[in-house]
Amino acid sequence: MKRIAVLASGRGSNVQAVIDAISAGTLRAECVRLITDNPDAHAIMRAGRAGVPVTVLDYASYASKEAYEADLFAAMTDCRADLFVLAGYMRIIGQAITDTFAGRMINIHPALLPAFAGLHAQRQAIDYGVKVAGCTVHFVDGGMDSGPIILQACVPVLETDDENSLAERILVEEHRILPAAAALFCEERIAIEGRRVRILPARD
Ligand code: GRF
Repeated sequence: MKRIAVLASGRGSNVQAVIDAISAGTLRAECVRLITDNPDAHAIMRAGRAGVPVTVLDYASYASKEAYEADLFAAMTDCRADLFVLAGYMRIIGQAITDTFAGRMINIHPALLPAFAGLHAQRQAIDYGVKVAGCTVHFVDGGMDSGPIILQACVPVLETDDENSLAERILVEEHRILPAAAALFCEERIAIEGRRVRILPARD
């Protein structure tokens, strides 16, 4: 059974989706740790309820990003996870970590990358006037929301949408494709070929 660690900064609905997929048996893995940069993250409560151990690294208490990332690196090494799932983790991760865990870290982003990377992706989509929006699960590399894409899902943008209503519609798809991508990884069905990710057929 693969070991998954989740990283989250806030509400944690994507963490919940991973936990629920494990309980449902659609994601055959063990969630071994939640790592959060925010002591007030609601994700902590969700992990606690599921019996997942939590490491809190209070970003605000660190003197520098380097000091914080040194502890993050140690926490990630310590939990011996096969896969790190960034589930609403709101910080850019430094190169030392992305290099060390390359090919073993995935992120959910609420836009159809490469459009609308960075913060407030749903607002960016509304402001730009696109008719279709969505979400992306991708490997994490040294850039911002730039690694190879594993899964994407799209939703329509309605004329009545604002940032919140669009975000809600996208979130439904996030909760579906994030555990699905984690499951593909755990089933060893992902081959990275340059920028392209090939999904291998299921084994019997
Ligand atoms: C999600 O939309 C995620 O894609 C983005 O931030 C939001 C986090 O939501 N990066 P939650 O904490 O998983 O509920």
